Amino acid sequence: MTEHKSTNITWHEGIDRAERYQSLHATGATIWFTGLSGSGKSTIASALESELVRGGVFAYRLDGDNIRYGLSKNLGFSKEDRTENIRRIGEVCRLFSDAGVIAVASFISPYKEDRDAVRALHKELGLQFFEVFVDTPVEECEKRDPKGLYAKARAGEIQGFTGINAPYEAPENAEMVIDTTKVSVQEAVTRCRAMLESSGSGRPRWGRRGYD
Ligand code: ADX
Repeated sequence: MTEHKSTNITWHEGIDRAERYQSLHATGATIWFTGLSGSGKSTIASALESELVRGGVFAYRLDGDNIRYGLSKNLGFSKEDRTENIRRIGEVCRLFSDAGVIAVASFISPYKEDRDAVRALHKELGLQFFEVFVDTPVEECEKRDPKGLYAKARAGEIQGFTGINAPYEAPENAEMVIDTTKVSVQEAVTRCRAMLESSGSGRPRWGRRGYD
C-alpha cells in the first residue's frame, strides 16, 4: 500500500457521475490489456482505440512505452518501480472512466497484486474494469521480438526482462483471454467491443456514428 503523505486534505464532491454520463452520452470503463512484451497487446489496444473513436466513442489509450516518456519517466523496471507505474496508470484510468472515457490500458503489468489493486480501485467507486490477458507464449513473443529486446536480454544487455529473467504472473480470473497465435487482431477487437457493449459502455455517444 502506498504511503499517504498528504495531510489536512478534504475530498470535494462534484457533479454526480450518472448525470455526467447522461449529459455527455458517454459511459466510462477501463479495459486493461496485460501480457508479455511482444504479445500483441499494444497492437490490439491501438486497433480497438481506433475503432471506438472512429465509431463515435470517447476512448483513449494508455501504453506502457508511451507513458514511460512522460508520467512514468522517472521509473525503471524494478519490482517497486513497476508497482508504482501500474498504480499511477490505475489512478489515471480511474479518472478517465469516471469522466466517461473508455480507458484502453496496455501494460505488461506482470504482478497480480498490482493488477488486482487497479481492479479494486475501480470497483470501490462502482466503475467498470475489464482485464484482458493477451496470452501469447513467451517462445512466440521471443520469435517475434519486434523491438529486438529479447535478443538483448539473452545477450545480457538488459537485466530483469519480463519472461526471460523477471517474472510474469498470469491472470487467473481475467474477463477475457486472447491467444494471438489463434485469434486475429480484428477478431480480438470485435470480442473486446462486444464485451464493452454488453456492459453498456463502448457505444457511440450520440446513438449512431457522428454528431446529430
Ligand atoms: S510494466 O512492467 O511496468 O507494466 P510497461 O508496460 O510499462 O512495463 O513497459 C514495458 C515496455 O518497456 C516493454 O514493452 C519494452 O518495450 C520496454 N522494456 C524495457 N526494459 C524492459 C524490461 N526490463 N522488462 C520489460 N519491458 C522492458
